[in-house]
Amino acid sequence: MTPVDPRALRDAFGGFMTGVTVVTTRNPSGAPLGFTANSFSSVSLDPPMLLVCLGRSLSSHGIFATCTHFAVSVLAEGQEGVSNVFASFKGDRFARIAHGADANGIPVIDGAVAQFSCRRTQSISAGDHTILLGQITGFTHGDGLGLGYARGQYFSLGLERAAMVVDSTRRIVAAALVERDGHVLLEEAPGGMRPPQFEFKAPGNLRAAMEARLAGSVRLGSAYSIFDDRPTNTHYTCFLAQATQDCALEGRLVPIEDISGLTFETPAIAALCKRFALEHSTRDFTLYVGDEASGDRHEIR
Ligand SMILES: Cc1cc2nc3c(=O)[nH]c(=O)nc-3n(C[C@H](O)[C@H](O)[C@H](O)COP(=O)(O)O)c2cc1C
Repeated sequence: MTPVDPRALRDAFGGFMTGVTVVTTRNPSGAPLGFTANSFSSVSLDPPMLLVCLGRSLSSHGIFATCTHFAVSVLAEGQEGVSNVFASFKGDRFARIAHGADANGIPVIDGAVAQFSCRRTQSISAGDHTILLGQITGFTHGDGLGLGYARGQYFSLGLERAAMVVDSTRRIVAAALVERDGHVLLEEAPGGMRPPQFEFKAPGNLRAAMEARLAGSVRLGSAYSIFDDRPTNTHYTCFLAQATQDCALEGRLVPIEDISGLTFETPAIAALCKRFALEHSTRDFTLYVGDEASGDRHEIR
């Protein structure tokens, strides 16, 4: 077998964008169990079937692999917090998250865009995972968009799309907070520092446009800030990004903890960079959507 670097393979798998689900069951004493999974896949319409892959390292692996019933809740945009609880919280996950029960008595997550109730039909051992196959016994679904996940980060297509509805008189600028080893790349503009940015003629698909401009230099992550800066008549979108080894972008690599002492091109960019420095310390990043004065923040990881 060709030797494979597991980390590189994980990165390669991470290029496949997925949704995020919470898979739930009950143990033989009736206690609820659940974990976050993006390995969910539809399998068959007739009979209706789905699958999810269980890591052998899950504390609940044995219970899921032998359960009679389980459920899959497809998380909605804005449910990053639910995903984080079911991925890493070690206490009672269900005490923290609003949930109900399906017809089989299995917990399902409130607010999910779809909930599938399943009878387990097979558990297939596959390397360090077990493929859990279920026949769908019932389901619910709504109109909302699901939470997205790619390259280790959550994304919200709905929010990004809504933010692309732009007043046509505004300049369209997209920027990236490019991070490398605790530093962020900034360029010097006449009025002060700013993240590297590009101007576009139309809002369109800014993510794809930025990926094309930055090809090879960065790995683009989630949108981090989308706002109208009215004083400069600019619609500004900023993405999180990681510099690659071959990053060819010009600018100054500034230690992230020094951001608060810098002068920035505009007050809005200053606020954005300072928020980044603050959130970087806990990695609790939020997506800001609004204008230079006020807006909403949405958790992104
Ligand atoms: C977005 C995301 C997707 C995940 N997908 C899976 C998955 O498909 N299968 C899996 O076994 N673990 C997956 N995990 C990891 C589990 O959620 C995590 O290991 C589990 O909650 C740990 O539970 P435990 O503490 O009970 O062992 C994922 C985590 C995240 C954040």
